[in-house]
Amino acid sequence: MSTLVVVGTQWGDEGKGKIVDLLTEYADVIVRFQGGNNAGHTLVVDGEKFIFHLIPSGILNDDKLCLIGNGIVIDPSIFIQELEGLAARGRPVTSDRLRLSSNAHVIMPYHRALDHAREVAKTEGKRLGTTGRGIGPCYDDKIVRNGIKVADLLDPELFREKLEDNLKEKNFYLTELLNADPLDFETIYGEFQNYAERLAPFVDNVSILIDEAVRNGKNVLFEGAQGTQLDIDHGTYPFVTSSNTVAGAACCGAGIGPSKIDRVLGICKAYTTRVGAGPFPTELEDAVGDLLQKKGDEFGSTTGRRRRCGWLDGVVLKDAVRINGLDGLAITKLDVLSGLPQLDICTEYDIAGTRYSCMPANIRQINSIRPINMTLSGWEEDLSLMKSLNDLPKKARDYLKIIEDMAEIPIVLISVGPGREQTIFLKNPFE
Ligand code: GDP
Ligand code: IMO
Ligand code: MG
Repeated sequence: MSTLVVVGTQWGDEGKGKIVDLLTEYADVIVRFQGGNNAGHTLVVDGEKFIFHLIPSGILNDDKLCLIGNGIVIDPSIFIQELEGLAARGRPVTSDRLRLSSNAHVIMPYHRALDHAREVAKTEGKRLGTTGRGIGPCYDDKIVRNGIKVADLLDPELFREKLEDNLKEKNFYLTELLNADPLDFETIYGEFQNYAERLAPFVDNVSILIDEAVRNGKNVLFEGAQGTQLDIDHGTYPFVTSSNTVAGAACCGAGIGPSKIDRVLGICKAYTTRVGAGPFPTELEDAVGDLLQKKGDEFGSTTGRRRRCGWLDGVVLKDAVRINGLDGLAITKLDVLSGLPQLDICTEYDIAGTRYSCMPANIRQINSIRPINMTLSGWEEDLSLMKSLNDLPKKARDYLKIIEDMAEIPIVLISVGPGREQTIFLKNPFE
């Protein structure tokens, strides 16, 4: 038996979906534990592309159990849409392969409306550039104890009461403060009664299912969403998402104790991207940044927005190793760097003449970071068909060695393209 948590080490979109899909071969159970449909995880299987927002990236492997934990915020319409999308592509999913925690919180139409209205009300420079999916307002309600859980949705009386209470407050907030339109009770009630019926067969106690799997010696894979620098506590606050994205969140968000977690794998893109607003110390607002964006096809999987691109940030990497307790790294998109004559890696930050080796807490300080870079020479070769470490050009291996030395943990996997087969395995991350 082994349990493995997979998390993003940067600002999301590191390639978690691809890696989780690959590692599903060694797993029996795959669990999402935080975030919601702000996530967009891309899988390319036999040339066919799938993007999952809510359903775990293990779902394409037929005999595995996929679980959506209590730490998730779930938009029922997206859940149903993903199920229908899979069925339409000849991959129907029934409740014997997918379960949803009764403790997960439900994203309501007023959460999306508030997300949108709050962004509109903010001035330029203060806007977060959220995905607009209602994630933040749904977690707000969870924390202030006004939230509607999946279990509440399945109880028509309780749901009616909670929806009435919430709408009273939200409509006041929307109309009086945010200058937005009010929402209608009956419309939402009817719509969500339909969702309740569709969701009911999937609803279960996810913590118990994980416990059973662990007791029966199964391998359990926890699939993180977003990345360490988007974590509500450890990220570049307030330009973060509204959940804990770090490995520790797997315990709270799935209902498993820390003593049962064996390994933590960090996914690190060979350069850095960020989608949405917020500080990005190694951002390249020049031709090299444009080249990474184009070559890496860096568009958001959820919103289609152009991702900002920059050099690999060693400070961010070292923070991720410490905060997540990483014991292995998967380096993705190494192929994208081919053809660049020189490659920079940020090793430290300079802020007003003082050196920093971790991300500061103060946003004004973060905004004034000047990255201190080391420069390596690049390589010309196309890596996308390479199958082993020895195939890689020496310069690419040097680049990886610098990453390992900085992180002080081994690289266990190298990804050289979006396809399953474009992967160099150095070690089974479950072992
Ligand atoms: P996630 O949110 O961490 O799952 O990452 P996304 O799916 O949002 O973004 C990663 C993008 O890079 C997707 O389009 C993947 O298909 C693609 N991708 C993943 N690994 C590689 C790789 O090694 N090389 C290239 N060129 N593309 C990759
Ligand atoms: P995956 O799992 C990249 C970003 C948004 C915005 C900020 C807050 O695919 O890596 P939110 O809607 O969560 O309130 O937006 O977080 N963001 C992501 N960026 N990848 C993601 O997920 C993201 N999920 C949220 O762009 O800047
Ligand atoms: Mg993504």
